[in-house]
Amino acid sequence: MPMKSTHIPVRVAIIGAGAVSDYHHVPALQLDPRAEVAAVCDADAALVEKRKSDWGVALGSTDAIEICTSPAVDAVIIATPNDTHRPIAIAAAQAGKHVLCEKPLGLDAAEVKAMLDASRAGKVVHMTAFTYRFAPAMVYLRHLLKSGALGTPRHFRSQRFTDWPETSWGWRQYKERAGAGDLYDLTIHRIDFALDLMGPLSRICGSIARFAPRDRTVDGAPCRPSDVDDWSALIGEFESGATGVWEGTTLAKGYKRNGFGHDWAEVNGSEGTAVYRLHEPNSILLGRTGGDLDVVPAPREYLKPASSPRDPDLGEPATVFRYDIVWEFISAIVEGRDAVPSFLDGLRAQIVADATMESHAKRVWVDIPRAD
Ligand SMILES: NC(=O)c1ccc[n+]([C@@H]2O[C@H](COP(=O)([O-])OP(=O)(O)OC[C@H]3O[C@@H](n4cnc5c(N)ncnc54)[C@H](O)[C@@H]3O)[C@@H](O)[C@H]2O)c1
Repeated sequence: MPMKSTHIPVRVAIIGAGAVSDYHHVPALQLDPRAEVAAVCDADAALVEKRKSDWGVALGSTDAIEICTSPAVDAVIIATPNDTHRPIAIAAAQAGKHVLCEKPLGLDAAEVKAMLDASRAGKVVHMTAFTYRFAPAMVYLRHLLKSGALGTPRHFRSQRFTDWPETSWGWRQYKERAGAGDLYDLTIHRIDFALDLMGPLSRICGSIARFAPRDRTVDGAPCRPSDVDDWSALIGEFESGATGVWEGTTLAKGYKRNGFGHDWAEVNGSEGTAVYRLHEPNSILLGRTGGDLDVVPAPREYLKPASSPRDPDLGEPATVFRYDIVWEFISAIVEGRDAVPSFLDGLRAQIVADATMESHAKRVWVDIPRAD
């Protein structure tokens, strides 16, 4: 079990002060009376200065290791490009700091295993930012499934369709920095849903493809073309005998949907079907044999963690549930327990994502080893 934090409020450093930190990690910390933003680190010195002022933080650095070892920091949130997660997470764990790391945890499963091992050795809380697990619709769907209301689960199905511009994705479009494209960025969340809902996978068959060259920046300047996928898909067999089908693309024209895209995940059980949708995160679709799918609001107790002060009636519903990741991280730290989802969940999803690329490269089904 991880150590309890001795310092309340928990002093959290943001490492990687870009989009996702500003969008949900920092607003979430600002909502949580048990935590404070104690430090900011980014490779971009000008951004460090801006965020210190925006977020009201005194301690700033461009050196992640300096922040990971600072006595003024109890925990870190790592939101940097994927290739930097492993060294930063390991340095933090070795310094006894609790770690919430963005997905994908690493560039491959070997990196992620090293992060998990270091976190366990350091007895720190470790958590993977699998954001969409916290959507009320997903929490409620999971409750219905696990309580048997859908009967025996037979099929898992997910679609993640976004309509992104075909210009450069920056670091995200290069294998050495991102590991993979759509597969590691978007589909990996849905692999995590499936493992959480349906249990371990036995084997998968996967495919990836790239359509957009992304050889221009948004300003029209030439850049090195992308070498990662912008479409990914897999089919899988779970140990339970159930089946899964996943598809993700960033090139689904017309699927803008207020910036949130199309995100659909469903379970078909022997007694019923339940569907999660990101753009309607506070309700599910529910259907029974012989009937149609009806909209069913998630009961109020599913709209946020019980003890969180977040008002579920405030803000854009498809945005504000993301704050609950940090609530879980801080709760695990103050309670001295494991966080959910942990680095082990990140490793399990990474193994399946890696297998998808292996399956594609070899044109074969790939067995999925158990990770524990
Ligand atoms: N969970 C989610 O829903 C979600 C959403 C978006 C992004 N992400 C993940 O979050 C991470 C960051 O994504 P983003 O969209 O915020 O990217 P971003 O490019 O907007 O921000 C990354 C920041 O990290 C900084 N950086 C780069 N190397 C660094 C280093 N060695 N030390 C300190 N700072 C460094 C960059 O200067 C940049 O400001 C990625 O792993 C991404 O996959 C997750």
